[in-house]
Amino acid sequence: MKNILITGGAGFIGCHVVKLFVEKYPNYHIINLDLLTYAGNLENLSAIEHSENYTFIKGDICDRGLIKEIFKKYAIEAVIHLAAESHVDRSITNPFEFANTNIMGTLTLLNQAKESWKNNFEDKLFYHISTDEVFGSLGDEGFFLEDTPYDPKSPYSASKASSDHFVRAYQNTYGLPAIITNCSNNYGPNQFPEKLIPLFINNIKNNKPLPVYGEGLNIRDWLFVEDHARAIDVVFHKGTIGDTYNIGGFNEWKNIDLIKVICKVMDTKLGREEGTSEKLITYVTDRAGHDMRYAIDSTKLKDNLGWEPSLQFEEGIEKTISWYLDNEAWLHNIVTGDYKDYYKKQYAAD
Ligand code: NAD
Ligand code: TYD
Repeated sequence: MKNILITGGAGFIGCHVVKLFVEKYPNYHIINLDLLTYAGNLENLSAIEHSENYTFIKGDICDRGLIKEIFKKYAIEAVIHLAAESHVDRSITNPFEFANTNIMGTLTLLNQAKESWKNNFEDKLFYHISTDEVFGSLGDEGFFLEDTPYDPKSPYSASKASSDHFVRAYQNTYGLPAIITNCSNNYGPNQFPEKLIPLFINNIKNNKPLPVYGEGLNIRDWLFVEDHARAIDVVFHKGTIGDTYNIGGFNEWKNIDLIKVICKVMDTKLGREEGTSEKLITYVTDRAGHDMRYAIDSTKLKDNLGWEPSLQFEEGIEKTISWYLDNEAWLHNIVTGDYKDYYKKQYAAD
């Protein structure tokens, strides 16, 4: 058995990575460490929670004592680090929380990995999951490449950039075997409905206004979450130590155009007259420091490791909308806050 620590596995992307690894690799023991902040939801993992090769631990990546204990108790050989505060709007109101979790939490994990593995780095890996937002904002032309200089512009991206720098510093200074991937915006099942796509699906369903920031002209590059999980699988197994890879699907959308697609699909699925959902669009004050355009060039990942997205956007968005409509209870439990009780019920905890 190979013991792999995955952090943030109860969150949006983390739950897809945990499910993929637990199901695909019965010879891996997956230890999922998650603090279950507002963004962590164990219902996301109900399909695999009783698997023999899976252990859940509720805890904080900043808790040095706990991290030391986990590395020792489970003889951790690899880390896939996803735990983070991830919402830009929240980072604008509470930057300290982002610095603490994203920087100090990453540093805590890096340092323990270094301490635990320092006598033998062979076959060890610290795999850090990062974002394209560290590169800043693009104009009309060009793409983010792996060697694009970092230029973070929000407290969220600044904290992620800092954590990436610490990973490289540990690699360079102590020889810690590490890999970083920087991915574009993810969409798909299980995303907390504060982010654009699930928020708008939920609002349309409930006939609530759709708050479009500014003029809706900002551009994001969207990737289906299961394709990101597949990329993480590929990089974990085939990536070169010390390297970084960009992950994206060459799928840029202006916010307002994307929103109109969501409105159209929702009208069809809800049996509403075409144009009904678009009437909910409400332009609101722009996000402070709103990055204009993100676009990832993932050619290196394709050429070196053979990864490509499997889903076209039209299929992905259709699948995503169906998932939120079919999983009413999941959405309802989040909106009401009932998802917080899942841990108590399933794990008989306080
Ligand atoms: P998320 O907010 O949905 O989930 C984050 C998870 O981390 C939650 O389960 C939360 O409980 C947990 N967590 C938070 N603080 C913790 C702490 N101190 N200790 C332990 N667990 C803690 O985030 P996500 O969208 O799934 O993103 C996962 C990772 O991928 C993040 O590192 C993010 O920066 C990165 N990323 C996200 C996107 C995206 O579009 N969502 C794109 C590129 C990269
Ligand atoms: P978001 O899902 O928060 O991801 P990120 O800011 O990390 O890219 O937002 C995606 C885009 O949608 C971004 O340009 C901000 C915009 N947006 C809105 O217009 N209205 C909203 O209510 C939200 C949450 C986002």
